[in-house]
Amino acid sequence: MHVQSCPFSRLCDTKEILTVNGKFPGPTLAVHKGDKMVIKVYNAARYNITLHWHGVRQVRNPWADGPEYITQCPIQPGNMYTYKIKLTTEEGTLWWHAHSGWARATVHGMIIVYPKLGAHYSFPRPHAEVPIILGEWWKKDVMEISSTANRTGGEPILSDSYTINGQPGHFYACSKQGTFTVLVKHGKTYLLRVVNAVMDEELFFAIAGHKLVVVATDGSYTKPFETNYIMITPGQTMDVLVKATQPLGTYFMAARSYSSAFGAGFDNTTTTAIFQYYPSHHLKPILPILPPHNATMAATEFTRKLRSLGTKSNQISVPLQIDTHLMFTLSVNLLNCTKGTLCTGPYGKRFAAAMNNVSFVSPKIDLLRAYYFSIKGALDEDFPREPQFKFNYTGENLSENLLTPEFATKVLVLEYGAQVEIVLQGTSILASDNHPIHLHGYSFYVVGCGFGNFDPEKDPFRYNLVDPPEQNTVGVPNNGWVTIRFRADNPGIWLMHCHLERHQTWGMSMVFLVKNGYTCASRILRPPHDLPAC
Ligand code: C2O
Ligand code: CU
Repeated sequence: MHVQSCPFSRLCDTKEILTVNGKFPGPTLAVHKGDKMVIKVYNAARYNITLHWHGVRQVRNPWADGPEYITQCPIQPGNMYTYKIKLTTEEGTLWWHAHSGWARATVHGMIIVYPKLGAHYSFPRPHAEVPIILGEWWKKDVMEISSTANRTGGEPILSDSYTINGQPGHFYACSKQGTFTVLVKHGKTYLLRVVNAVMDEELFFAIAGHKLVVVATDGSYTKPFETNYIMITPGQTMDVLVKATQPLGTYFMAARSYSSAFGAGFDNTTTTAIFQYYPSHHLKPILPILPPHNATMAATEFTRKLRSLGTKSNQISVPLQIDTHLMFTLSVNLLNCTKGTLCTGPYGKRFAAAMNNVSFVSPKIDLLRAYYFSIKGALDEDFPREPQFKFNYTGENLSENLLTPEFATKVLVLEYGAQVEIVLQGTSILASDNHPIHLHGYSFYVVGCGFGNFDPEKDPFRYNLVDPPEQNTVGVPNNGWVTIRFRADNPGIWLMHCHLERHQTWGMSMVFLVKNGYTCASRILRPPHDLPAC
């Protein structure tokens, strides 16, 4: 894959964007379960780059995971790195994206993992498959937007439109022609593979007049259920079936934001694509009804319906004997501006974000190398296992009480094979917001969620330990909490972070160090020879 800058025209303007092989969205990687991918990445751009294979577990091989300064140093302009990726249990829709700065805004694409040859989907074979990559378009240069936001500590500017497969859609100037269109035959069933690749917003998505049947999320089958819309967080993927049984005609598919953030701005535009029966001649397209932007109830109602299917080749195995209980608060904070700089955050301050009040600081050399080669002083293993301050997490937190996070690079050590439970607690330190939390190297079971403060006396009794959904990214609800469980059986250095890019940039990340096991087959593999140097 060649990372290169190429001119693209959208919204009546042309600008250079970072691409892979000159494509936006980038190329789709289609493989079968258990396959090995060897991907040579050549950086022909003028920025440092790394690629991440979102949802691929990279068993024992964190060297191929990709987040910059976590598992590798970036590939510098003019250099190469070969990602050698062995797929194991993954099956379904995943995706890949740049994991350095804001490059992922345009550097991303789909990964389709088909069942093993001769094996089948958990649902009847669809007539055809349709990729739906939800993205964003800025008229300005994305890398500049991020560096301005970093410098001033304010909110990055909002995108000018969302996109479906790289196109803003019918309602935007200069965009009608390019609108993504899928032609369907009456009576047939289609599989939509949906990826939310936007930087900063959760989305609602629907097709006018058609029911959607959700059959998988994050590369794991779900018990099928029917719905009028889906809610999908950045980082998440969802497979849905659509039956073309409506009167012949043209229908819109549409996506727009679900934004719980109180007071914060959001892109309130709607992107569309066309779902057109073939043959049909009357072309009056019909728009779907989407929940309102702040419809937290609609979002929660939807996510609560996600349940693991459990199949022969992918059985439900929720950890039941938890030996490692963790609790992390998620917060957006405000800092005083240092003298002589211009800060554009609220009250002339600058934003930060934290987990357990630690705002992640990117190290200078990647943590994986530091760990593997025991580089002295590079690893602080002190990430707090529970909130450092107890307070009313979701209550009124006045600005005088704003907690100023600690800025540090800290990892949390897990024993190999630990049965881990993490309560992710949203807070209203500044303003409450949803946080789509993504864990590298694993998928986890989402065993519970609720609003307000997590109650250790009551809430655990309501956990779903029977068929919780298996995900790699979970939206922690606005002013609420989520509990996840996983078995730490993949040794290495693994990043966990909010998949809202602005929050990640502000420091809402942490890192797990999962120790080697006692057998050779439970140790991390050796680093590849071409691992980029810092
Ligand atoms: Cu999809 Cu760490 O990212
Ligand atoms: Cu967040």
